[in-house]
Amino acid sequence: MNAAPGTHPPVVVILAAGEGTRMRSALPKVLHPIAGRSLLEHVIAAAAAVQPKHVMVVVGHGRDQVVAHLDEVAPWVDTVVQAEQRGTGHAVRVALTALVEGGHLDASVTGPVVVLSGDTPLLTGDTVAHLLATHADRGAGITLLSALLDDPTGYGRIVRGRDDHVQAIIEHRDADESVRGINEINAGMYVFAGPVLVEGLSRLDTDNAQGEEYLTDVLGIAHADGETVVADIVNDPVEILGVNDRRQLAEAAAHMRDRINRGWLAHGVSMLDPSSVWIDVDVDVDADVMLLPDTYLYGPTTIARGARIGPGVTLTSCEVGEEAQIRHTVADLAVIGPRATVGPFTYLRPGTRLGEAAKAGAYVEIKNADIGDGAKVPHLSYVGDAQIGEGSNIGAATVFVNYDGAAKHHTVVGKQVRIGSDTMLVAPVTIGDGAYTAAGSVITEDVPPGAMSVGRARQRNIDGWVSRRRAGSPSAQAAQAAQQQEESR
Ligand code: UD1
Ligand code: CA
Repeated sequence: MNAAPGTHPPVVVILAAGEGTRMRSALPKVLHPIAGRSLLEHVIAAAAAVQPKHVMVVVGHGRDQVVAHLDEVAPWVDTVVQAEQRGTGHAVRVALTALVEGGHLDASVTGPVVVLSGDTPLLTGDTVAHLLATHADRGAGITLLSALLDDPTGYGRIVRGRDDHVQAIIEHRDADESVRGINEINAGMYVFAGPVLVEGLSRLDTDNAQGEEYLTDVLGIAHADGETVVADIVNDPVEILGVNDRRQLAEAAAHMRDRINRGWLAHGVSMLDPSSVWIDVDVDVDADVMLLPDTYLYGPTTIARGARIGPGVTLTSCEVGEEAQIRHTVADLAVIGPRATVGPFTYLRPGTRLGEAAKAGAYVEIKNADIGDGAKVPHLSYVGDAQIGEGSNIGAATVFVNYDGAAKHHTVVGKQVRIGSDTMLVAPVTIGDGAYTAAGSVITEDVPPGAMSVGRARQRNIDGWVSRRRAGSPSAQAAQAAQQQEESR
């Protein structure tokens, strides 16, 4: 998406200095995440879609955390501190000063200035682009985004003149009954012609209910000066939804989930119950994938064609191959090969790699381990710091004993190995290709290829022990009855 032809690329100012008291949170409001990004990152993504010349975020409350977060996720944006929150107009003035001082704007501020708010995560790049295009097409001094709401309480109201242009914006708290009856509201997202903005900001006062410098007063000033002020009504009012409290955060997250899921459904992904599937923005899903209920795909997870995920699966930063099947599983930073099967009740930790058609079954935990093509860990096992060759089978209740209390050690299991049930593989240890281990073995030394390794005490049976040592007990009675039956045969 580009800025409309014939226009300068805009600078974007994002207001994020407010306290967000109603969140009741130690985390600054704009850093709360939905769909794998902070609220602020979502707004920055919408701004980035119009290829701005520069993005300036106005920070205040919680600024250390906000700045640290931006350094990590969007180091190309700039921040400026608004030490005291003296209103949206004051915040934009602080940003313009910083943009001019930083050489991102010339002193006369030619070119458009887009102003957004850091707490509206559902705003799309398409809408910002449309606002810029409308601004250019109409030759406007200011173009703002408006919305028609059934309940406009709390918002600034748009007062239109007979020519349909905006005459003024009146804040709810400053409005009389007739103005409060207007249901077209100011979404708080604007495109300004630079000089119109500079002129308006220079004439703001604090003569209003909140004693603040209102950015919205710039619109009335511009209209009085004969500038064209246009309100562009947003198609989907969900886009302007601001997050001020936890209820609105949950609502925004649900809208985002629905938007993301609609996108994947259109792309050919099936979902039995889209309302129970949560997919982060950075996830990639191929067509013909089936997502069953209660599935969470986080981080940069990728799912290849034909895979069947869920029910009850949480994947964080995982790569899933074609036609893999995963049920009731938690996996972090794992690679699951094509046609592999995982679950139910499986935990794959970072560094797990399952080869093609490999299996990790019920009550299995795997960490930092390479499971070869067609190899199976079907039941009740822990595999850590290991390599398992292709076609090998790990018997039920096997433990890769990787930790000696101080350091972690590595185990190598070759190809086509059969590890007996309840084997302890005490690392570091190597099991050669084609070897077997007997059930219940504790393996502390390397096993050569093709050998059968038995690492357990030989069994002995002490006849008559129960009748002597547990005389009269239910066990002794049962043993006696069995003996009599045997004798009478
Ligand atoms: C503002 C608009 C209102 C609009 C509404 C949409 C004004 C005067 N009013 O009202 O017309 O309907 O948004 O949501 O602009 N901020 C700063 N520094 C400040 C003050 C605010 O950075 O000194 C930031 C806030 O963190 C927030 C944004 O600006 O992200 C909007 O401020 P807020 O106080 O929420 O404005 P509203 O009263 O909601
Ligand atoms: Ca607000």
